[in-house]
Amino acid sequence: DKGNYRHFMAKEINEQPEVVSHTLANYLDMATAQVRFPDLGLDLAQISRVTISACGTAYYAGLVAKYWIERYARVPVDIDVASEMRYREAPLPENGLAVFVSQSGETADTLATLRYCKANKQRIASIVNVRTSTIARESDAALPTLAGPEIGVASTKAFTCQLSVLACLAIAIAKARGAITKEQEIALVTALTEVPRHIAAILRQDEIYLSVAQELAKARDVLYLGRGSSFPIALEGALKLKEISYIHAEGYAAGELKHGPIALIDENVPVIVVAPEDDLFEKTVSNLQEVAARGGQIILISDAAPEKAGCTPAAHIQMPKIDSFIAPLLYAVPIQLIAYHTAVQIGTDVDQPRNLAKSVTVE
Ligand code: F6R
Repeated sequence: DKGNYRHFMAKEINEQPEVVSHTLANYLDMATAQVRFPDLGLDLAQISRVTISACGTAYYAGLVAKYWIERYARVPVDIDVASEMRYREAPLPENGLAVFVSQSGETADTLATLRYCKANKQRIASIVNVRTSTIARESDAALPTLAGPEIGVASTKAFTCQLSVLACLAIAIAKARGAITKEQEIALVTALTEVPRHIAAILRQDEIYLSVAQELAKARDVLYLGRGSSFPIALEGALKLKEISYIHAEGYAAGELKHGPIALIDENVPVIVVAPEDDLFEKTVSNLQEVAARGGQIILISDAAPEKAGCTPAAHIQMPKIDSFIAPLLYAVPIQLIAYHTAVQIGTDVDQPRNLAKSVTVE
């Protein structure tokens, strides 16, 4: 049932404040602002490495987690798409934790990689939306996302719920290893509990997306740029746009621009920049100016005032001021809305894009 929405995708985007809140409540103690993570059957303080694998959007959630776990817990993370990892014969360490991320819990490549990691004595945790799924059943610990059924083929609410669980996992490992103080834990958890309220506010400012969509609908190619934990959000933005609007889009680490993709930029190529005002913001701004100097049309998604970007963006999506830890959870939303409104503008089948299936159970 789509309720009052035209598409399941719109309904699912708008459910995010509620489902992210439910998911966080499952892994956090709201009263004390501390993490309350289920036992994974291994001592989190002893983890030597975290190996993450998944496909598509779920893989991008895992890529954000790499930034979080390395930065806050100081544990090395290896991550790869499951179709590669399953055949790579990667050597796996003692005391390794392997984490699989899957909405359906049935993705063939992800399941095959899980079995490889299990055969190589990793502890297996999976973040799944379908609790009865094969991936959940074959894991030592299944960590549910409480997104509810996701009908739209393009994943939206499952992604932000996956990020919610992964953020809690990062804090739990950081805490167990003594990599963060109790005060830092409280600050990170408090920031997470504010995510649903911020998402609700982002969802209320919908006029800007209509004008952005009208411009994007005319484009043949679109670039998405981001640095640090915003890089996976840029990749996810490009995936969302291409799968539902059929416009060619690519996500790049902003620093990679000058190593090739800058050759594509002219006044016909919109460049969407995911740029929270964090410690990497100044670096992203200099990439942005390189784009502006070549006539690129910049769509800036940022909490910073546009003057700080040192150029005049064609559009500026104003984001709230937040702890940069939670930025991926919030910046995921505008990139969903951009893709959605662009596809609606073009008139494609938003919920059932051509050639795609909701669950990919064959290799
Ligand atoms: C993109 C999308 C896909 C899935 C991928 C993995 O919007 O939905 O990229 O994320 O097929 O699916 P699950 O999460 O079911 O393993």
